[in-house]
Amino acid sequence: MILGIESSCDETAVALVTADRQVLASRIASQMDVHAPFGGVVPELAARAHVERLAPMVEAVLTEAGIALTEVDAVAATAGPGLIGAVMVGLVTGQALAFAAGKPFVPVNHLEAHALSPRLVDSGLGFPYLLLLISGGHCQLLGVEAVGRYRRLATTIDDAAGEAFDKVAKLLGLGFPGGPALEALARGGDPTAVLLPRPLVGSCEPHFSFAGLKTAVLRAVAAGGHGTADLAASFQAAVTDCLVDRTGRALARFPEATALVAAGGVAANGAIRAALEAVAAQHGLPLVVPPPALCTDNAAMVAWAAIERRQAGLADDPEMPARPRWPLDPLAEPVRGAGVKA
Ligand code: KG4
Ligand code: ZN
Repeated sequence: MILGIESSCDETAVALVTADRQVLASRIASQMDVHAPFGGVVPELAARAHVERLAPMVEAVLTEAGIALTEVDAVAATAGPGLIGAVMVGLVTGQALAFAAGKPFVPVNHLEAHALSPRLVDSGLGFPYLLLLISGGHCQLLGVEAVGRYRRLATTIDDAAGEAFDKVAKLLGLGFPGGPALEALARGGDPTAVLLPRPLVGSCEPHFSFAGLKTAVLRAVAAGGHGTADLAASFQAAVTDCLVDRTGRALARFPEATALVAAGGVAANGAIRAALEAVAAQHGLPLVVPPPALCTDNAAMVAWAAIERRQAGLADDPEMPARPRWPLDPLAEPVRGAGVKA
C-alpha cells in the first residue's frame, strides 16, 4: 500500500493505492480558479497553492481510507519533470512524511506514472505498448517496453497539443482550460471551412509541431470572415490529422506494440479518440484510454508507478532532488529544430 503525491503542475493530488490495484482513496484539487485570470499556469502561484492544499489533502485521504500513516508500506511523490517550485512542494512533503513515519520513500518520474497508468485499471495490458501522451504539458510517443524501459519515439518541437488547444481557445474568446470548450464549439462547425496547415504530416520522424498551426489560426481570425465554430472545428481537425499521422508513423516504427494507449487531457477529446481508434484498428491493435480521472494528472498513477517499480526490483535514490527536466529515455536524440520542450 503506497501513499502517492502529485504536484508537478497545477493539480495537487494525493492517493492511496494497493498492489492488487485498489485505489483506496484519490483526491485531486485543481487550481483552475487560481490560474484562469492569467490564461495559463503561473509557476509561483502553483507552488504556493500546493503548499496550502497538500497537508490537509494527505489527512483527508488517509481518513477516507481509514488508514494511519504508519500502516502504509511506502510514500511516493513526483520528483519531476515539471515546474520546479511545484515539484519541490510535493517531493519534500513526501520525503518528510516518509521520514517521520519511518517508511521508504520512492521518487517517481511523472512521465513514467502516465506511461504505466493504464495498467492500474487494466491488469490484462501487457508490454510492449505504444503510448501517445497528449496533455497541456506533454506531447510524446513512447514505446513502453517494460517497467523502467521506455523508448521515446517522438516529442514536440514546440507546443504540446493541449497547449495549442488552450491558446487557440483563448484566441476564440473561450475560457481556460480551453480544450473542452473548444471541442464543444467545434461540434457546431465545419471542419473543412478554414484551410489550415498540418505541420510535419508526412515527415519521416514521428515528431509533432503545433506553433505554425496556432499562428495560422491567429491569421485566419485576424483576416475575419470565419465564424468561431468553423475556426474551432477546422483547428480540431488539423490537430487530429497531425496526431493520427504521427501515431501511425510511430506504430510502423514500433511493430512489437500490442496496444495503442492514449493518455493526457487531450485524449478526452471525442473526435481525437475516434480517429485514434481507427489508426489502432488499421494496425490490428486495441486502443486503450484510461478513464478521465486517471488520464489527467492524478496521484493514483504516481503511487502505482512506485508499486510497479518496487515489484520490478528497481531502486531509486530516496534523497533525489527535484528535477525540472527528467527524460524517460536518456538515449533519445535531441530533435532538430526543437525548442526547450524537447
Ligand atoms: O493532462 P492534463 O489534465 O494536464 C496537464 O496538462 O498535465 O491536460 C490538460 C490539457 C489542457 O491543455 C486541456 O485544454 C486539454 O488537456 N483538454 C482537451 C480536452 N479536455 C482537456 N483538449 C481537447 N479536447 C478536450 N476535450
Ligand atoms: Zn501530466
